[in-house]
Amino acid sequence: MTDKPRKKPEALRSHRWYGVNDLRSFGHRSRTAQMGYDRSDYMGKPVIAIINTWSEINSCHSHFRQRADEVKRGVWQAGGFPIEMPAISLAEPFQKPTTMLYRNLLAMETEELLRSYPADGAVLMGGCDKTTPALVMGALSMNLPAIFVPAGPMLRGDYRGQFLGSGSDTWKYWAELRAGTITEDDWREVEDGIARSPGHCMTMGTASTMCSAAEAMGLTLPGASSIPAPDSRHQQMATLSGKRIVDMVWEDLAIRDVVDARAIHNAVTTVLALGGSTNAIVHLIAMARRAGVALDLPRFDALARKTPVLANVRPSGKYLMEDFYYAGGLRGLLSRLTDLLDLSATTVNANTLGANLAGAQVFNDDVIRPRDQPLVESDGLAVLRGNLAPDGAVIKPAAAERHLLKHTGPAVVFKDYNDMAARVDDPALAVTKDSVLVLQSAGPQGAPGLPEWGQLPIPRKLLQEGVRDMVRISDARMSGTSYGACVLHVAPESHVGGPLALVKDGDLIELDVPARKLTLKVDDAELARRRAAWKPPKPHYTRGFGILYLKHVTQANEGCDFDFLEEGPGKGIGEPEIH
Ligand code: FES
Repeated sequence: MTDKPRKKPEALRSHRWYGVNDLRSFGHRSRTAQMGYDRSDYMGKPVIAIINTWSEINSCHSHFRQRADEVKRGVWQAGGFPIEMPAISLAEPFQKPTTMLYRNLLAMETEELLRSYPADGAVLMGGCDKTTPALVMGALSMNLPAIFVPAGPMLRGDYRGQFLGSGSDTWKYWAELRAGTITEDDWREVEDGIARSPGHCMTMGTASTMCSAAEAMGLTLPGASSIPAPDSRHQQMATLSGKRIVDMVWEDLAIRDVVDARAIHNAVTTVLALGGSTNAIVHLIAMARRAGVALDLPRFDALARKTPVLANVRPSGKYLMEDFYYAGGLRGLLSRLTDLLDLSATTVNANTLGANLAGAQVFNDDVIRPRDQPLVESDGLAVLRGNLAPDGAVIKPAAAERHLLKHTGPAVVFKDYNDMAARVDDPALAVTKDSVLVLQSAGPQGAPGLPEWGQLPIPRKLLQEGVRDMVRISDARMSGTSYGACVLHVAPESHVGGPLALVKDGDLIELDVPARKLTLKVDDAELARRRAAWKPPKPHYTRGFGILYLKHVTQANEGCDFDFLEEGPGKGIGEPEIH
């Protein structure tokens, strides 16, 4: 909570556009009149920018036109003036090479929309994977009052009376199709039934993880992140968020009053207890850095060792987000973690997190496990180090076959994605179930954009032998809906000369998750010889956003933000506004 005095109308940012008596204000008012508004509609009222990531290419946000109207209803009711501002949508399934390449673009767009227009407060509408961190990162840098309206998970998928989970069942049935255990017709039925309503992926993928993290960080109304997108309570939440942001402006409750070290701690703990996506690590580090809060990989690992996984949701568990909501949702889960959370943290409704959890209940102990029956005792995520990943790598142990968590095997190296696609199913590929598949050139610079290529496909001939998991190592990310013994985010990446670039076929690699080790068992003299012979690859871009990205993106362990957007002297917040 803040003890700032209630704002006066003349202190609103928008007053500089509308309230002063000069030629430019005449222009702003006359052009507002052009849109059919009378002065009484907006003068002296908080202007609320609704940053909407709706697009016809984003199936996860297809309800956002209607939700924006519902947000506006709340803004009007509370005495604000809503202005919807579309922003780049980042549609996970469609955007190539990866939405991650554009996360920072949406963050910049969010920040600059809020800076350059007469916004007093912001409603951030996102949900599909990168949209949540991007919107929050941009809003953090601008530091106005802001509330997040999460898209909500879609309904469970349906296939012949069975539930289907986004992503997870795609990978599962794709493997079965390649193994020859289902037909093309079966596969077509999966295609038609797996995504059957608006909303983001309904497994504990990146979208569910990041929307839950935003709620745990205090950025949504209590309970908002778990409501399925088509549920009428989702519409109510949108309207209530619109109402609340107006009061947040009068209270001068800015986003950085909410997102502090306590909020980041709560978000990390929540992600771990959810068995959340490994992608959250990259995004939370980037968000924390925008907020000026220290967060690094060792902190994740330390919290993972003491945080149980309580959400029995795919891909680590059995159920889907719709079940999670009916079981009590995120408030129910957080009510079982109170000793691990900082309950004094502020949230957007001006209550503490602790106050917002009062009365929260769990209605199904199999979906949201009690503390004495966790899905996994600890280690929802694990951070690895070693000569193959001097700056760290991550794995999600709960999503891997347990016997692979301590494994040594010979490397089968693919120099990039195309090489992998061309050779992985070749019957002549020298690979066994004990091999370690290695993918190079899949990191922030190498791919480029740190795509979700980290769940390398199991070679077809091994699938046909019944193999369903192997140790796989890359500098890529993995979809939060994926599973397997996949070591991800190896840093530094191979493209910039990280040791992953030096691995050759047949080298022994040791993965030891309990000891948090990732070791390339090649002696230092040989590695030095290989390093001397290594030549940096050509950059992927020579112009446009691509070259800006390549020049400024940081490594996975640093959050992959642009170096000039992170918090620090002369950066981000604190820039003088030019009016
Ligand atoms: Fe949008 Fe998964 S495709 S959240």
